[in-house]
Amino acid sequence: MNYIGSKLSLLEFLENSIKKVAKKDCNVFCDLFAGTGIVGSYFKKKGFKIIANDIQYYSYVLNRHYIKNHKPLEFKGLFELIATLKSEDIKNRGAIVLDYLNNLKGKKGFIYNNYCLGGTKNKTEQRLYFSDENGLRCDAIRQKIEEWNNGKKINENEYYFLLASLVESIDKYANTASVYGAFLKSLKKSALRPLVMSPAELIINDQEHEVYNEDINSVVKKIKGDILYLDPPYNQRQYATNYHILETIAKYDSPDIHGKTGLREYQKQKSSYCSTNQVKKSFKDLITNADVKYIFLSYNNEGLMSAEDIKEIMSTRGKYGFFTQEYSRFKADKNREYKAEKTVEYLHYVVCNN
Ligand SMILES: C[S@@+](CC[C@H](N)C(=O)[O-])C[C@H]1O[C@@H](n2cnc3c(N)ncnc32)[C@H](O)[C@@H]1O
Repeated sequence: MNYIGSKLSLLEFLENSIKKVAKKDCNVFCDLFAGTGIVGSYFKKKGFKIIANDIQYYSYVLNRHYIKNHKPLEFKGLFELIATLKSEDIKNRGAIVLDYLNNLKGKKGFIYNNYCLGGTKNKTEQRLYFSDENGLRCDAIRQKIEEWNNGKKINENEYYFLLASLVESIDKYANTASVYGAFLKSLKKSALRPLVMSPAELIINDQEHEVYNEDINSVVKKIKGDILYLDPPYNQRQYATNYHILETIAKYDSPDIHGKTGLREYQKQKSSYCSTNQVKKSFKDLITNADVKYIFLSYNNEGLMSAEDIKEIMSTRGKYGFFTQEYSRFKADKNREYKAEKTVEYLHYVVCNN
């Protein structure tokens, strides 16, 4: 998924840097600002036990699948409904279930009624986040997943696989420049194509993993690990506003929404890491409470905290150091007020004394 701050293109840099610092006896990798789950997934594939967390629910959905699901999904409860499922190899069953959902007839629901032109044309605000067809498809699929879950036709692991597949897939059909803070005036090419979900990858691994959906400063007090990887927001842009529609598709809770973009209430998900006044205090508290051997922090040279602030805070736990790498700016930021095409990506670390 194209996500602000995604570390997809920095995975090898992270792994190589971490290997230079951490001893081989590490088993538990904590990714507590997990976003898309790409970092946790990468280290899960290397055999680690992962503890993931994020304050956003759509991110919980992604991590609940990519991280916590680690055995094949049987979909036994759908054998009667989907005739071919039982005889199919277990590895292909997820794709067969998605195929069934992809072929549902569109249905009016919260997404069509509030984020498509057809559903909003007689309302105060007209919105064009999705084509009418894709809004109707999304609602039909989302309602069916919920119906199956409520009727115990699918188990929790299967439920999150289906939701993760929907969240990841629908993002590719959104009529936006990149995030959900605004929509385009007319439907772009990718938004015109009919929504077809692809199966979210299932990563098989032997360990039991943990996934949370809380503020990091409370989660950190109840977990214990070897490596703590931190990838907080770097600036004032809140993820809750930039990805509000994915949040609503994941929760499907028919929230009160307002304004041109149909924003949901997000006070409880406002991040102190996006606030100049609060970030240092929260970061200090986080570093102090982490029960781990090593802490790594991704941050760039334009973030709210300076490299000096970070060094000072992290050094309170032990021997501090950092690695750097040049990095191309996030797509949506390129036309903004920033001048430099590239930023310097830092990986700060501390080897904890206790
Ligand atoms: C830079 S992104 C992480 C990107 C991720 N590493 C990836 O590659 O996809 C920062 C994430 O931190 C989450 N976040 C922000 N404040 C948080 C908080 N106080 N507690 C937990 N998660 C938070 C955001 O929702 C966002 O997903």
